[in-house]
Amino acid sequence: MTRVLSCIQPTGDVHLGNYLGALRNWVAGQHDKDVFHGVVDLHALTVTDRPGVVGQATLELAAVLFAVGLDPDVATVFVQSHVVEHSVLGWIMECQVSFGELSRMTQFKDKSAKREHDFVSAGLFTYPALQAADILLYDTDEVPVGDDQRQHIEITRDIAIRFNHRFGDTFVVPRAVLPKAGARVMDLQDPTAKMSKSAGSDAGLVYLLDDPAVIVKKFKRAVTDSDSEVRFDREAKPGVSNLLEILAACTGDTADALASRYSQYGPLKADTGEAVVELLRPIQTRYGQLMTDRGELQALLRKGAAKATAVAATTLERAKHNLGMLPG
Ligand code: TRP
Repeated sequence: MTRVLSCIQPTGDVHLGNYLGALRNWVAGQHDKDVFHGVVDLHALTVTDRPGVVGQATLELAAVLFAVGLDPDVATVFVQSHVVEHSVLGWIMECQVSFGELSRMTQFKDKSAKREHDFVSAGLFTYPALQAADILLYDTDEVPVGDDQRQHIEITRDIAIRFNHRFGDTFVVPRAVLPKAGARVMDLQDPTAKMSKSAGSDAGLVYLLDDPAVIVKKFKRAVTDSDSEVRFDREAKPGVSNLLEILAACTGDTADALASRYSQYGPLKADTGEAVVELLRPIQTRYGQLMTDRGELQALLRKGAAKATAVAATTLERAKHNLGMLPG
């Protein structure tokens, strides 16, 4: 079966755009392919400078992944640092990639420029080597990523091909695939921009764990368009179209069909808010249960780590053997 790896960093809270755009498809797709989902806390360390933050964020993100419906008996959900093979193969990857190649990574250039007055760790620079290890450890066939990660998948392929050439066939060469398109959720205050945790303010972001009253209020205050016609037209009416697309994602109707049922913005905003509250209600309930039963959550993660380790340890052994390292 095709092996698929998706990873997400435990930085920032999960919002409706993440859920409708990606996580919901992860859940829907978990039976079709052999899916691995990593919470990549080692990657988050590249920009972490306060104690206690990463662990809590990792726990919360893991709880969200199970709460939205990833089934621990089907999907392999694990925390990167629980599978020590990532760090070991990460180092080996650092020795297979050149300084020049890493210097050309646009994400490093962007992130280090943004941290102008902040500490720029060496980890931020070697980050793609660790990402290559994440991918190659699982004999991954497909990595669903957006455009911002294409270059990291390309370098992973280059490293795998180079390693296989130097040391003999060791790694599956992965390919980047476009994630199945979910709903395109825009910022409620700036409907021309994607809902994103890097937005200037929280007012246009709906978090998965927002209180129902807060969700309703955020939708009531959503920016709409200057005339008062309810019509699905992303170009001319970005605000209303965003509401229609979100409502459509909740109800399963098409945005156009929904548009014909409204003649005013007010009821559309109210209904969309309510629909989102109902969509998130079971997720929030399950999340609450998991966070109050840490034992269960930890057990689920141990199970994921064991499944991941079984694959990762075999691959790492193969790499060390082919490198000709001295067995311990
Ligand atoms: N770099 C990715 C991001 O910022 C996260 C990531 C780490 C990842 N390891 C990965 C993505 C492996 C896909 C596969 O989104």
